[in-house]
Amino acid sequence: MAYSEKVIDHYDNPRNVGAFDAGDENVGTGMVGAPACGDVMRLQIRVNAQGVIEDAKFKTYGCGSAIASSSLVTEWVRGRTLDEALAIKNAQIAEELALPPVKIHCSILAEDAIKAAVADFRARHAIQGAGASSVT
Ligand code: FES
Ligand code: FES
Repeated sequence: MAYSEKVIDHYDNPRNVGAFDAGDENVGTGMVGAPACGDVMRLQIRVNAQGVIEDAKFKTYGCGSAIASSSLVTEWVRGRTLDEALAIKNAQIAEELALPPVKIHCSILAEDAIKAAVADFRARHAIQGAGASSVT
C-alpha cells in the first residue's frame, strides 16, 4: 500500500525533530514503543506557566507512518492545554494522514506518546509540589 501524500510530506519534511533537555522542569518526555514492530517514538512537550504547550519535539525510529504521525502531533499539541492535548485521538491522526489499517498502530503510538509526555510532565510537577513555573 502506497503512503499518502501527507505521510510523504511529513516524512520528507518532518516538523520539530529534535530534543529538549529532559531535565528542564517545563518539559515532559514520553517514550513509547510499538510491540507490533519494535518502533520507538519519543515526544517532548514544553509547557508554559499557563499550562499551555508552547513547543514540542520528537524523535522516532520507525516507519514513515510513525514518523509522520509524530511530526503531525508536534504541530497539533502546540497551543493546547494538557487536557486538550490528551483529547487528540489516534483516529484523528490516522484520518488526517489517510493511514491504511495495517498502519493504524503507528498513529496509536503517537497518541500514546502524547499521554506519556503529559504524564511525565504532571508526575514531575506533582513531585515538586508546584504548578508550572515561569518560563523566561
Ligand atoms: Fe515499523 Fe517497519 S514496522 S518501521
Ligand atoms: Fe510500526 Fe509504523 S510504527 S509500522
